Amino acid sequence: MALAQAPLLEIDQLEVEFRTETGPIVPVRGVSLRVDAGRTTALVGESGSGKSVTSLAIMGLLPRPFGRVLAGSIRFSRRNGEVVDLATVPPRGMRAFRGSEIAMIFQEPMTSLNPVLTIGEQIAEQVRLHLRLGREAAKSRAVDMLGLVEIPDARRRADEYPHQMSGGMRQRVMIALAMSCSPRLLIADEPTTALDVTIQAEILALIDRLRRENDMGVLFITHNLGVVAEIADVVTVMYAGEVVETAGVRDLFHHPRHPYTRALISCLPEHALRGEDGRRVVQAIPGSVAGSLDAPGCKFAPRCVHAVDACQAAHPQLDAVEPTHFVRCDRWRAL
Ligand SMILES: Nc1ncnc2c1ncn2[C@@H]1O[C@H](COP(=O)(O)OP(=O)(O)OP(=O)(O)O)[C@@H](O)[C@H]1O
Ligand SMILES: [Mg+2]
Repeated sequence: MALAQAPLLEIDQLEVEFRTETGPIVPVRGVSLRVDAGRTTALVGESGSGKSVTSLAIMGLLPRPFGRVLAGSIRFSRRNGEVVDLATVPPRGMRAFRGSEIAMIFQEPMTSLNPVLTIGEQIAEQVRLHLRLGREAAKSRAVDMLGLVEIPDARRRADEYPHQMSGGMRQRVMIALAMSCSPRLLIADEPTTALDVTIQAEILALIDRLRRENDMGVLFITHNLGVVAEIADVVTVMYAGEVVETAGVRDLFHHPRHPYTRALISCLPEHALRGEDGRRVVQAIPGSVAGSLDAPGCKFAPRCVHAVDACQAAHPQLDAVEPTHFVRCDRWRAL
């Protein structure tokens, strides 16, 4: 009998605090999620719900000194089989994971690429660092990496600077950089939101192919439920710093339990709105997250069409609908 495999990443009851000039805030509280090897977990929720803060906590990149993990654990299963709680690893120790076992790509590649180095040089530098290759070998590996992410004419493009490339090509370069160390976990934070729809589809297909070929776990952060439907195996929905629902992708779309998830899905896809900044935003749910943060009860209650008085009073716990489906709503059985 095969032993049950430990999840690649398992976050349990994570709480993050930021000390700000106006006092501490807790942008992430009680977040639990998991990513399995070779699978994609999508983390969804509207702007400000705590998705990026969650990913920064995993990477050990919370802004210091005022951001810190208050409680909870981030268990990561290493290549050598060891399981470590990343929440307890000191900043220096995180360098052993970041870039080598866990890599991250962001929405805007320009902020992560060095404008004065060619893309070939940047990838070569990365692979020399991680694979301890010599100069020539690293250069040729860089060209291979550009080929891996389907950049045509890789040998010539390796000599180009980031500003000479289109947004889609730059995102491919970011993915090549991330893949250069064969990470076990790839965190992708809105990697396609800045791209137009056809390029977006190509990048999604690329990430998906790399996941399959490398048995890599992917934590894919997005506003866009349309994207989720295409690539996710498991979906975790956040609202105001909390997980409100987690389920397998089909289950989530066919049997959403939380009123917030239902509202998100009912806005799909024809009614998808385009935000002022040109991003696609799926939600047209009245109200905003901000006003409800300090309420004692359910954080979604002030915007929820199903809320009753009791919802304002008691804070709901995550409840198991099924062994793989969880919802944070005291009324889910009645809806
Ligand atoms: N460096 C910071 N200092 C203070 N507060 C912060 C900082 N970074 C994020 N926050 C706050 O934490 C909350 C969660 O932010 P986060 O960036 O995780 O949201 P998000 O879900 O990624 O949103 P988006 O979809 O817009 O990227 C927000 O209220 C935000 O204002
Ligand atoms: Mg974000």
